[in-house]
Amino acid sequence: MKVLLISGPNLNILGQRQPEIYGTQTLADIEDLVGKRAKEWGVTIRPYQSNHEGALIDFIQQERSAEGLIINPGALSHYGYSLRDALEAFPGGKMEVHLSNVHARESFRHHLVTAPIMDGVVAGLGWRGYLAALDALVPMLQERHDRGATRPSDGSQSGS
Ligand code: DQA
Repeated sequence: MKVLLISGPNLNILGQRQPEIYGTQTLADIEDLVGKRAKEWGVTIRPYQSNHEGALIDFIQQERSAEGLIINPGALSHYGYSLRDALEAFPGGKMEVHLSNVHARESFRHHLVTAPIMDGVVAGLGWRGYLAALDALVPMLQERHDRGATRPSDGSQSGS
């Protein structure tokens, strides 16, 4: 099973960027932690970061065969409609993560355009939020997979 780990604008400078809000871990640290937890789940992580909305969209379109994704869209979460459309078209499971509690910050951060089309959203747990997202996503994908395998149309279940 493959899960994409996508980071939007300014997340490449985590560790230096307002550490009192976003923590001292770098993006490489977070990708490493998620990669290690994913290994425990038997899942492969494919990390990607860009400061450009179009590049994020290209990546999501290219990787549509992945079973799931975890994304921190950065500020694009608040206004990135093209990114939202790309995420909506991605057929796999989707989790959104924010390091900070966006609801407790400036009012422009309260409005999330990507969140409504996600399977789940984690905010305010710092780097631990990524692990929480992965720990919720993997069993969800496994359940979906198992349900899919026993759909009546597969002939493996008699109709009720
Ligand atoms: C963020 C919150 C956004 O409002 C901000 O623009 C970011 C990071 C977070 O992880 O808390 O870049 O997504």
